[in-house]
Order: sequence, then structure tokens, then C-alpha cells
Amino acid sequence: MAGLAGLSVLPASAQDDIATAPPAPGDYLVFAGGEDRTTPLTPDSLVPNAGQVQAWPVDPATDTVRNGTLYNLLVLTRWDPAVLSPEGQEYAAEGVVAQTAICTHAACEVTDWIADSFHMECPCHFSRFDPRQNGAVIQGPATRKLPALALAMEDGRIVVKAPFDGRVGGDTA
Ligand code: FES
Repeated sequence: MAGLAGLSVLPASAQDDIATAPPAPGDYLVFAGGEDRTTPLTPDSLVPNAGQVQAWPVDPATDTVRNGTLYNLLVLTRWDPAVLSPEGQEYAAEGVVAQTAICTHAACEVTDWIADSFHMECPCHFSRFDPRQNGAVIQGPATRKLPALALAMEDGRIVVKAPFDGRVGGDTA
């Protein structure tokens, strides 16, 4: 049976291990939804000042998508770097920032977008987070920011520069 990477010769168990391992420096990113789930993302893959899109990290050595756990699901947004907080600027790659898609309250996916304020909202209990401030909590019940991934550019692609800056998952579930 073909693996996720198609050409991979890894045993299934090894591929599972890679798919469930957390994002690591050098991983590239692909869209989690839509038709194209294999092309490495660049800044131009994202519409500036628009709502979050979901993405997965990919192990570059094996082209294995790390979609073995929802804790690896990311939300990406793209901004003029000037509107990012100082910390956000440090984490961004050409204005693109990445946070976990998993709410820090009770681990729902943060899927909603409040266009008026440029905030992401969790549909479960309506916590809001600011992607321009490195995932800061704007409105509870969540009390902890969305863990973020520092990004970098490599050969025109967006890649992970550092692991998550906090524990991914909910505080009450
Ligand atoms: S799980 Fe997100 S606000 Fe409760």
C-alpha cells in the first residue's frame, strides 16, 4: 500500500512516527484543505489580511505530512510585517505567521474569523486570539495564547524555524 509520500520506502510504523512527531526546524508546509495538499507553501500562497488557512508541516527528508495528530494542525495568516507585534515580527517569514489550530481552552479547532477586528475565534466557547500578536488571547475563556511556530524562508518556501513556543492542547480537556 502506498504511503503518504508515495515514493517512501519507510515501514508503516516509521512513517506513523514521523507523521505524529511535532513540527521540527526545516519542515515545509502544505495546505490541509483544498485541492492542492502537496505543493510547498510560499508567502504568495496566502492572501494578506485575510482569515486563517489550515496547514500541515511536512518532514523534508521523507515528504511525510505530519498529519498523524491534530496537535500538528496549524493556522496561517499573512500580514504587512509593520502591523505585527515585535514578537510576531521575529516569528514571521515575509509576513506569514503560524499558530496551532488547537484552542488552548478545551482543544477545539480555532476555525472562525472575525474580519472586523482581524481576530481568530474558537466556535466552541468563543475565545478570540490575535494572529498579529503571536496568538495572544483577546477574549476568554481561554487564558493561554495559541502556541506559535517561528518561521523562515528557504529556497522560496516557508519552513519551520523553531518548535512550538508552548504546549499545544486545551487546558480543560
Ligand atoms: S475550546 Fe475554544 S473557547 Fe473553549
